[in-house]
Amino acid sequence: MSRRETGLPAGAGAGYPGRMDAKEIVEKCKRTTMYSWSAGDSVDPIPVVAAKGVWLTAADGKRYLDWNSQAMSVHIGHGHPRVIAAIERQARELAYAYAGTATEVRARLGEKLAALMPGHLNTSFFTLGGGESNENAVRAARAVTGRQKVLARYRSYHGATALAINMTGDYRRWANEPGPPGIVHVLDPQPYDYSFGATDEERGQNHLRYLEEVIAAEGGHTIAAMLIETVTGTNGVLPPPPGYLASLKALLDKHGILLICDEVMAGFGRTGKMFAFEHGGIVPDLVTMAKGLTSSYLPLGAVGLSDRIAQHFKKNVFYGGHTYNSHPLCLAAALANIEVIEEERLVERAASLEPLMKAEMARLKAKHPSMKEGRAIGLFGMIDLQKNARGEPFSPYASSGPVMAKLSRFFRDQGLLTFVKHSNFTCVPPLCISEDELRQGFAIVDRALELTDAEYQT
Ligand SMILES: Cc1ncc(COP(=O)(O)O)c(C=O)c1O
Repeated sequence: MSRRETGLPAGAGAGYPGRMDAKEIVEKCKRTTMYSWSAGDSVDPIPVVAAKGVWLTAADGKRYLDWNSQAMSVHIGHGHPRVIAAIERQARELAYAYAGTATEVRARLGEKLAALMPGHLNTSFFTLGGGESNENAVRAARAVTGRQKVLARYRSYHGATALAINMTGDYRRWANEPGPPGIVHVLDPQPYDYSFGATDEERGQNHLRYLEEVIAAEGGHTIAAMLIETVTGTNGVLPPPPGYLASLKALLDKHGILLICDEVMAGFGRTGKMFAFEHGGIVPDLVTMAKGLTSSYLPLGAVGLSDRIAQHFKKNVFYGGHTYNSHPLCLAAALANIEVIEEERLVERAASLEPLMKAEMARLKAKHPSMKEGRAIGLFGMIDLQKNARGEPFSPYASSGPVMAKLSRFFRDQGLLTFVKHSNFTCVPPLCISEDELRQGFAIVDRALELTDAEYQT
């Protein structure tokens, strides 16, 4: 189908001479570029040409409801004129100045983040994404403590760069091993096997006892930091058990171990608080951010550092940096994005839509035997599927079987974009989604679960 037949404005967009049709875009992308986390021949990418609010449009004119905020990252929704205008304005004024300069946009965002982050978090170090932020947070923790080891959890993803992928606990680490030394992985409060049977509180307390033993065995004086996703993201959308964060912080403090909260996915209102650690009443020593910091309009990450750590680097060199550290365009995007989050009250909106998401999940669970569980905190949701009453998954961990592939195809055909893996799928729409759009999404999920019900073994 040509662009003219799609109803999209001819010549709209990037101003290229003539436009490619859907087939040509896909064919050339596949032939001349590499896709991440996949074998190139197996990908079937959607040729996206436009996006507005919670909707994406493909080159053939088909519309998709963005049920995953792309990479769980477009918090304010697509095509927000305020962020676009801020990027344009900054590009005209000063598109780039190297990291050693001082710019007004850097001063403004630094000040804004200091005000936004609670307690002793008043200093930011800018990067270009989540993985880089985690690398630099650990770099800072090692320099300040003089210790090398880092504790990280198995149910986690922390980025794809060398250290970050090896701090990652999930299967994406395997092909990247062996990694740098000094990373100790621990199990999570939430086991993969739910049949362990304890309450959330008991699991949290048991986990802390286990962690205390790990710290003793490793030597607490050798551990610089523990890195956690405050709310585990792709590995389950799992908020910490009640009371867990405060007890964890106290345990780590006892040993002089710094707590790094990875809020790359959970931050900027996704969970109904600006930062997810606020649910647990704690302030970590370091916090890492990306995704919702700019809603992905431009790449930017940041590390928030406590006053004590920031003070250390007033007198000592921070041995880290990037050509694009504090890139003015990215900072302008972040500043405008945060203004939108605040003025449109999107954090409050995520909190106020949580009950609707949970109610829809409860309605579907009562109706569909193949739905094992639905979880949501704010607009951060996941649905787990089961193939039988014993709760067994359709595909085991780190695999994707035919049922999940069929489900994924159905979602795409029905115009719902989400991440489907193992035996679960995400419900993570932009925070600007309306109640009606949220219900539209769950109506498609409802129909999709009929498909998995048909595979349910009684
Ligand atoms: C919790 C978490 N940390 C870190 C990252 C890595 O971020 P990036 O892809 O920007 O490097 C991700 C990306 O999905 C993430 O979800």
